[in-house]
Amino acid sequence: MNRRFAIIGHRAPSNGKVNLNDLAGSSGRLDVLVRAVNAALFLSHGIRKDTDITLHLMGGEGPPRRVWFEGSRLRGVHPDERAIAGQVGKALKSPVPAIGRMVELHEGLWHSGGGIEQTLDEWSREGVRAFVLDANGVAFDPMEHSGESVGFILSDDQPFTESELGAMGALEKVSLGETWIQGHSCIAILHHAMDS
Ligand SMILES: C[S@@+](CC[C@H](N)C(=O)[O-])C[C@H]1O[C@@H](n2cnc3c(N)ncnc32)[C@H](O)[C@@H]1O
Repeated sequence: MNRRFAIIGHRAPSNGKVNLNDLAGSSGRLDVLVRAVNAALFLSHGIRKDTDITLHLMGGEGPPRRVWFEGSRLRGVHPDERAIAGQVGKALKSPVPAIGRMVELHEGLWHSGGGIEQTLDEWSREGVRAFVLDANGVAFDPMEHSGESVGFILSDDQPFTESELGAMGALEKVSLGETWIQGHSCIAILHHAMDS
């Protein structure tokens, strides 16, 4: 089962500088996104080769940017929050690539323009079955999807916008329980369910 995660950072800057000393404040809740990378990719020793995560940086000036961490190829990234945020900061030093152009910054770390619509297009072309994570959805049963490539979309601390909901309209909403929890916890729970 190949696993993808996509998280939308509504205020996380797509351009400019990342303030490593204030990921939650002046970096637009980038802390939420880097915790998601940590939960998605890092094992006790090593990286999950079957998992990718795409950060959607929708805030700041200029066009939105997507930063894609590819578990099967990623090298030289450490699991602490500042190190992961530093990788995002490196991407921000280059202009946002055109939509449809994916540029590799270093092994397993890519960036591109666009938003969730483009990520969903790519997943669809690659045969990934996409789900929206929502506490009000239906329970996710990993047994129903064994052997499938699955992708999960989650938001940061803010609700999805109307236009995001429009782009994701046809997708099934899956719940991990009625209580809203943090995004990185959702990822850990999904990994556990699929690992088991
Ligand atoms: C901190 S929550 C966001 C809460 C935000 N106030 C909202 O209304 O969307 C971050 C994301 O985690 C996912 N999430 C949180 N709790 C969940 C649950 N119980 N089941 C499924 N997904 C959940 C959702 O995708 C949510 O957008």
